[in-house]
Amino acid sequence: MADMRVLVTGGAGYIGAHTLVAMLAAGQRPLVLDNFSNGSAEAVRRVERLCSASIPLIEGDIRQPGVVQAVLAQAAAGGDPVRAVLHLAGCKAVGESVADPLKYYDNNVAGSLALLHAMRETGVARLVFSSSATVYGEPQSLPFTEAHPLAPANPYGRTKLMVEQMLRDLCAAQAGFGAVTLRYFNPIGAHPSGQIGESPRDVPNNLFPFITQVAVGRRPFLNVFGDDYATADGTGVRDYLHVMDLAQGHVQALDYALAHPGFVAVNLGTGQGTSVLELVQAFERVNQCRIPLRTQPRRPGDIERMWADPALAASLLGWRSRRGVDAMCADGWRWQQGNPRGYETDPPAA
Ligand SMILES: NC(=O)c1ccc[n+]([C@@H]2O[C@H](COP(=O)([O-])OP(=O)(O)OC[C@H]3O[C@@H](n4cnc5c(N)ncnc54)[C@H](O)[C@@H]3O)[C@@H](O)[C@H]2O)c1
Repeated sequence: MADMRVLVTGGAGYIGAHTLVAMLAAGQRPLVLDNFSNGSAEAVRRVERLCSASIPLIEGDIRQPGVVQAVLAQAAAGGDPVRAVLHLAGCKAVGESVADPLKYYDNNVAGSLALLHAMRETGVARLVFSSSATVYGEPQSLPFTEAHPLAPANPYGRTKLMVEQMLRDLCAAQAGFGAVTLRYFNPIGAHPSGQIGESPRDVPNNLFPFITQVAVGRRPFLNVFGDDYATADGTGVRDYLHVMDLAQGHVQALDYALAHPGFVAVNLGTGQGTSVLELVQAFERVNQCRIPLRTQPRRPGDIERMWADPALAASLLGWRSRRGVDAMCADGWRWQQGNPRGYETDPPAA
């Protein structure tokens, strides 16, 4: 619905910034709350410039008592109540979740719980939640439909599943509460302007930012973990989707959530699997560059292949992905080339 005020937790992060662009294009009015643990105010400023819009940005942590409640209560008191919350804030690195599970249970689970309490206290009853295909675990059948058993193989995935369960229970208990859980597959790429994109603070956790950092000379080679999987070229297969397509999915999920109380979980993916080598080759072809590779042993816990059945997103939300792997590679490279260090600027010379 155009013109609705939406609280976006984690709106200064990678997916958040792109989603702000899609929301503004649809006439939705975001209000961002972010603690900048992995996001950047610069991302929001760039979205404002791109869209010639002003976005209220509040620095704060969803876990801190009273913070979300104050934001929601203030908006209501100002005559511009928040109609829905888009909940992207969280930690997302699978490996880190294995090494430091409490960090993940605290931020992802306790953070979501605190947010839901604040929503209840202020009468905001619509939520769109960033979940992950990680909730499925090892595939028993492919493509993953939403009815596939849920058996996440790591703490990160378990935190996402716990929040899904909280939302399911809350919707069952509280008539009038509506929650859309979006199970993202593998978002990559950037806005075609090259102004916003993924800006990992440390060593990237995912394949695509690794590729772009090798291409721009920040890293000497790309590690390929496992070349002996039972796939066409031996490397792992994922369902990569353009981050702007994913962003548009949020706009449609918000519209759906406004009109429909109750719980629903929806995959956002393309339905196409692409291997590591296929993605690297597409990147080299589209961007006319070479990515040196080093094959490494498989990583424990990595899944061989997975991709989405996106049919429910089409029938329920009217959403389907529109951009292909070539656009993901071209747009992701435009961002990295123009911003070799992401949103970070080089320290001033001494
Ligand atoms: N990027 C992916 O591949 C992917 C895939 C599936 C699901 N997700 C989920 O989507 C969401 C967004 O992912 P992203 O890639 O944009 O990550 P990101 O780290 O770029 O963005 C998350 C944002 O949340 C903020 N944040 C974290 N904890 C917070 C807190 N307690 N209070 C306020 N702000 C907080 C961070 O500063 C950051 O700006 C996450 O919940 C992630 O688990 C991401």
